[in-house]
Amino acid sequence: MNAPIAANAAIATTGLTKRFGDFTAVDDVTLEVPEGAVMGLLGPNGAGKTTLIRMLLGLLTPSAGGGRVLGHDLLTESEAIRRKAGYMSQRFSLYDDLTVDENLTFYGRVYGLKRGPLRERIDELLAWSGLEHMRRAPAGQVGGGLRQRLAFACAILHRPPLLLLDEPTSGVDPVSRRKFWDLIYGLSDTGTTVLVTTHYMDEAEYCDRLGMILAGRLVAHGTPAELRAVHAGGGSLDRVFINLAGRPLSPSPAPQ
Ligand SMILES: Nc1ncnc2c1ncn2[C@@H]1O[C@H](COP(=O)(O)OP(=O)(O)O)[C@@H](O)[C@H]1O
Ligand SMILES: [Mg+2]
Repeated sequence: MNAPIAANAAIATTGLTKRFGDFTAVDDVTLEVPEGAVMGLLGPNGAGKTTLIRMLLGLLTPSAGGGRVLGHDLLTESEAIRRKAGYMSQRFSLYDDLTVDENLTFYGRVYGLKRGPLRERIDELLAWSGLEHMRRAPAGQVGGGLRQRLAFACAILHRPPLLLLDEPTSGVDPVSRRKFWDLIYGLSDTGTTVLVTTHYMDEAEYCDRLGMILAGRLVAHGTPAELRAVHAGGGSLDRVFINLAGRPLSPSPAPQ
């Protein structure tokens, strides 16, 4: 926990805290995400995952503590962080009456991409995410896993070196979740750092690093192997969570 912050950390926080009145939603979180890692933040609903991500992006001001994201101070340089990072919020907004293509065009313009390069990028992302056949469909008619993939494509139009995904797979069937993780790996292979929150325990296995968050506190973090060794005597990640929290995180949904 007290190791010095690595020079190549994409995210490094110290004592990050958010209080709403008397209630502490994020409590003294010291966290490091190395460049290029896929880091999972696991915790039940209300644990503070979204609040933590929103502080990293400067969308919420910390009550205490601070840190750096992509080399920028999150207290004073949050605009630069928001410009560089990709963010898929828990309730991502797509424009249902615009087509898939138009949604991507809209977000590309928001990121300041020029028309020609944006067209190329959209074609590339539609093919990559398996949405090519839906490009002229209104986003409102795109359901389930495909909708998530569209939101994901919107978040990475500007090739962000860091991507923050807040429960990107919640409410999606297991097959679509698996496909979504393939996209995350594909992005990670190109060097992108990914911080992803989830309350699905099976997804923990897909991460290079994990942080377990309970009632605002980061109660454990490390590689899956480290967590298994330290907190479960080499047992499963489910066991790690039960040992830390006293109960399972969430039952994995049955395959469909
Ligand atoms: N703006 C707010 N005002 C008061 N309480 C909040 C606010 N935002 C979040 N909370 C509370 O903080 C806790 C953590 O919320 P959140 O970060 O959304 O958790 P998670 O994303 O892990 O489900 C919850 O108890 C939530 O009700
Ligand atoms: Mg949340």
